[in-house]
Amino acid sequence: FATPQQPTAPSPITRLNFSAVAKSTADVVSVPAGYTATVLYALGDPLTAATPAYKNDGTDTDFDQRAGDHHDGMEYFGLSAAGVRDDNASTRALLGMNHEALTQHFLHVNGASANPRPKAEADKEIPAHGVSIVEIRKGANGRFATVQDSSFNRRITPLTPVQLSGVARGNALMRTKYSADGTGARGTINNCGTGKTPWGTLLTGEENWAGYFTRGATDNAARGNDRSVASLNRYGRAQGAASRHGWETAGTEDTYQRWNISKLGASADGTDDYRNELNTFGYIVEIDPYDKAAAVKKRTSLGRFAHESAAFGKPVAGKPLAVYMGDDSRGEYMYKFVSAQPWVAADASAANRIATGDKYLDSGKLYVAKFNADGTGQWIELSIDNALIKNFAGYAFADQGDVVINARLAADAVGATKMDRPEWCATHPVTGEVYFTLTNNSNRKVAATGSQQAVDPANPRSYTDGYNGGAQGSAGNHNGHIIRIKENGNESAAVAFAWDVYLFGAQAQRDANSTLTDAQYAALVNLHGLTDEQDFSSPDGLAFSANTGLAWIQTDDGAYTDRSNCMMLAGVPGQVGDGAKRTLDYGGATVDTYAGKAPTTDTLKRFLVGPVDCEITGICETPDGTALFVNIQHPGESIAAADANTPAKYLSHWPGNAGYGAGGATARPRSATIVITKNDGGRIGS
Ligand code: FEO
Ligand code: CA
Ligand code: CA
Repeated sequence: FATPQQPTAPSPITRLNFSAVAKSTADVVSVPAGYTATVLYALGDPLTAATPAYKNDGTDTDFDQRAGDHHDGMEYFGLSAAGVRDDNASTRALLGMNHEALTQHFLHVNGASANPRPKAEADKEIPAHGVSIVEIRKGANGRFATVQDSSFNRRITPLTPVQLSGVARGNALMRTKYSADGTGARGTINNCGTGKTPWGTLLTGEENWAGYFTRGATDNAARGNDRSVASLNRYGRAQGAASRHGWETAGTEDTYQRWNISKLGASADGTDDYRNELNTFGYIVEIDPYDKAAAVKKRTSLGRFAHESAAFGKPVAGKPLAVYMGDDSRGEYMYKFVSAQPWVAADASAANRIATGDKYLDSGKLYVAKFNADGTGQWIELSIDNALIKNFAGYAFADQGDVVINARLAADAVGATKMDRPEWCATHPVTGEVYFTLTNNSNRKVAATGSQQAVDPANPRSYTDGYNGGAQGSAGNHNGHIIRIKENGNESAAVAFAWDVYLFGAQAQRDANSTLTDAQYAALVNLHGLTDEQDFSSPDGLAFSANTGLAWIQTDDGAYTDRSNCMMLAGVPGQVGDGAKRTLDYGGATVDTYAGKAPTTDTLKRFLVGPVDCEITGICETPDGTALFVNIQHPGESIAAADANTPAKYLSHWPGNAGYGAGGATARPRSATIVITKNDGGRIGS
């Protein structure tokens, strides 16, 4: 990487020039006329020359040398013909992608066994999680394919040694039997969204990691009811919690026992058991895709929560870097990290990329967002010096490392705004405004009690939904929205911002049995007047094209799947403040919100619909904008163990039914990456 190169400057597309894809429940990937989608990299595909082809019948093993399951966030890392980093390369690259979770039963011939889990099953399931680095090349036929024997190919799994970096490195809360000094940890899990640093590394967010661990029924007393109990409860591991897959039952070896986070040992510091193991998960993890020898580092200063993507604000030389992040759980928060070091443009091409990560991601300030009713908001610093945190009644913070490890509790202490499940965030390449998907929230109510959240200006909707034409159910934000913020003065370190809602997800038409009139539906639910060409539910994945400036919106939906499988839309957004204030009248209670300018079919259109029972998530592109890579996660995941070997019971056979891999029209479904090109070779969306 002798000559520093920057990606091509954006050449924005301002009018969507394709025909919208219709909503569909077919077991195929649909893209607009004039486009082609091809399967590139599916669950089980081999990553070494010696690894056998995937049989897809439940007998395959060695997942540390194959594509993992549940493809999720994904980033593109260009390679020159000579095989070195080249940010402008559009024909050879590495894809870095997450393998979030499992469609567990299809990994075994007759589905997964009950506890105690057979070792052979756990040994397939554990390494099927984590991250892939896989080389792709465009062949003489003009089509991309993976390079099975590439020396860059690798898997990072829940067993890969990683380093804890940043302010919580070596903290007393990090000490485990695996790392007595609290500087190391074992692996990464439930990797959901991604990010790409300006210096060319992959960031991967650990999301629903807590569920993989079990805690004994009397563990609170075993811990002497110390402050760790409040932390464990806040992060979803009350005593007696069962683990998601029971891996702790598979053997006495440490690699299984580490999934049991009960206090079992006699030590005072936790170095004889895994009582602190949960504190080593929940981070943004940095991986250098170009260098297998570089350390994998958990960037603890960015906070511990259910991470999705990590989006950098536009880097400006001489100014700090900002990294935006969401915490995906009902009523959780939006965060920003601001580096202590100002950005030096030459660092974009630094030879030691992980050392560059040390420079920008280990020291800085972590903030949480609070939204005001007047369309402004604040970033509140999570500092041990803040009296609200230092004197918080809910948890006794010891130091700044403790604050980032227990970021949720610190955010509670300062009264941050509880959001409708923050999923991905992304930075508009021209305006620099930051967009966050808020996927849905069944706990959002007009009048909230207990653990529910009341409607507020930034999360203003609560309504019933008649899925499958059935009962209207209970009220909530069923279809989600996309909020966006503009930092004051466009400064990365700003502590105040303006906001509005780019889009409210909604069905174009109300349910036939809706209790709302058409007028009420338009005034309380479909606030942006979405039509059949563009209606959607539960936005999740979100990215902007650096080439075209288009917003790509991906859905992970359960509220509208009676009418359509999950989908991806293209948008041409405006900017914060281009719409109007709206007042939602709930009859006795009103809520003011700020809706961005309503889209037209020139500025928002459905581009893709996926196969049955899938989620669309993860997107990246070639720098020339002519190839788009998209992940199809968990098609046909709804399967009982007893039906795993009964193809007639499968909800999906994709991508076998599209001609990819073993099994054909009756194949077990597989998560997979597709590549989309325009048949005339042009830029996607043009
Ligand atoms: Fe893994 Fe919140 O989606
Ligand atoms: Ca997600
Ligand atoms: Ca999701």
